[in-house]
Amino acid sequence: MARILITSAIPYINGIKHLGNLVGSQLPADLYARYNRARGHEVLFLCATDEHGTPAELAAAKAGKPVDAYCAEMHAVQAEIARGFRLSFDHFGRSSSARNHVLTQHFAGALDRAGLIAEVMEKQVYSIDDARFLPDRYITGTCPNCGYASARGDQCENCTKQLDPTDLINPRSAISGSTNLEVRETKHLFLRQRSLRDRLEAWIDSKTDWPILTTSIAKKWLNDGDGLQDRGITRDLHWGVPVRKGTEDWPGMEGKVFYVWFDAPIEYIACTAEWADANGLPDAAWERWWRTDKGAADVRYVQFMGKDNVPFHTLSFPATIMGSGEPWKLVDYIKSFNYLNYDGGQFSTSQGRGVFMDQALSILPADYWRWWLLSHAPENSDSEFTWENFQTATNKDLADVLGNFVSRVTKFAASKFGNTLPAGGTNGDREEKLIADITAGLRAYEGLMAAMEVRKAAAELRALWVLGNEYLQSAAPWSVVKTDPDQAMAIIRLAMNLIRVFAVTSAPFIPDASAAMMKSLDCDDWTWPDDLGLAMETLPAGHGFSVPENLFRKITDEERADWQTRFSGIRS
Ligand code: 2FM
Ligand code: ZN
Repeated sequence: MARILITSAIPYINGIKHLGNLVGSQLPADLYARYNRARGHEVLFLCATDEHGTPAELAAAKAGKPVDAYCAEMHAVQAEIARGFRLSFDHFGRSSSARNHVLTQHFAGALDRAGLIAEVMEKQVYSIDDARFLPDRYITGTCPNCGYASARGDQCENCTKQLDPTDLINPRSAISGSTNLEVRETKHLFLRQRSLRDRLEAWIDSKTDWPILTTSIAKKWLNDGDGLQDRGITRDLHWGVPVRKGTEDWPGMEGKVFYVWFDAPIEYIACTAEWADANGLPDAAWERWWRTDKGAADVRYVQFMGKDNVPFHTLSFPATIMGSGEPWKLVDYIKSFNYLNYDGGQFSTSQGRGVFMDQALSILPADYWRWWLLSHAPENSDSEFTWENFQTATNKDLADVLGNFVSRVTKFAASKFGNTLPAGGTNGDREEKLIADITAGLRAYEGLMAAMEVRKAAAELRALWVLGNEYLQSAAPWSVVKTDPDQAMAIIRLAMNLIRVFAVTSAPFIPDASAAMMKSLDCDDWTWPDDLGLAMETLPAGHGFSVPENLFRKITDEERADWQTRFSGIRS
């Protein structure tokens, strides 16, 4: 039994995530967590909301709420949606937690002691009427390039030109509209990660089993001209972790907070502490997952994320960990994903384009989405969600293949033999061949799941369902029963046991359908079919069952057309 720590990139607090976000981190992480639990490993699966920074402040202001209240509310909303998608986090934490404040300040102190923090004076726009420094995107003005009147300090939305706030004509505060602005000096902390470059490179080079997507992005940032710049880790904002050196004040840094990308990954550790707190466990319980001097040396730590998050997880966060000089666990494997596109374009949070997690659950249960998203995960290239594809895959894979198998077997058994498994007959050649074929497929499936080959694993699982259907078709118990009832009984006992095997092995993908299958089999034995021959005898003759409701319904052409129209435009 291994100990596996699994984290999903922590979603920003501002707003509900779309299906592209889901398939890039939380969902495949959940698949892997569920699979490894099913195989008997000790798994700790964590996620949290990423609550600091300008976007959170802006979203709260837009909602007319204090930022802490806004974050608390949105955390509850995201937690509820995560439950709806059956994301099986052991804990869903918050980067604004007291634990993360303490740990973030602790890391800053350790980095400072190691000589890895530089104090740098910078010039930044200060709004006298707002009594605060303004981040670039809090400043608006006329674009010097195209004349657009509401260009942001970092970029003009109209002509897309990247801007510096000082480029803007007639700059004003986006908060108050005040033009009473001046440029002031302000001190910031920089993490001197450039001095860790060689160590980072050697570490990345040692990860020969990582996906190409992960290492290619890491190497690009490491080697590009300005790839591994020293990085500002503080901001002149109100909302965030106050800058401190461990438990001490940091002279000259009063009123400043750490940059959101500094504290967010530290939340992976803090979230583990939050998990321990929530379960009344001592510090040793979370430290054994993170401190290599306290038992974490034998933990395998796997992270899941979209490709845009890779630089922070391969360079910046490891720089924080390595630079601290303390025995914290570094990640062992980073599974990253390309983008999922939406119906001929991109998912867009700002434009409300695509299907968002709450909307998805309002039209179909989680399993439909889980199956499509995972079986089309953007692993080797970007992939695209289309309603046609979603309809076809759902109707074929779930309804016609798996659903149909379960329904035919249970209905036939109930009508011919009543609601218990019949006793007669023994396995013949056809049954032995099925067991051999499914065994081979299962071993392939296990290999792919262990390797996090999500799409291929889905295809292999589907192939198992197909084998079940083909067997049923050729064994034809509905004909055999007329001439050889004992033989039909043996077929049905085998097929019923195969439903249990399908339930157990499919649960990481479609947990609700698996639970429904087990319920109809009146079975609570989730033992993994290491030995399929034995597994096929789990449910004995005389065991009671009931015919389940249809596991999956088909998506009609009318629904598809309706959804396509409904989700093409702007989400209010
Ligand atoms: O891209 C995002 O949604 C970020 N909030 C991910 C942060 S992951 C980690 F560093 F915490
Ligand atoms: Zn412009």
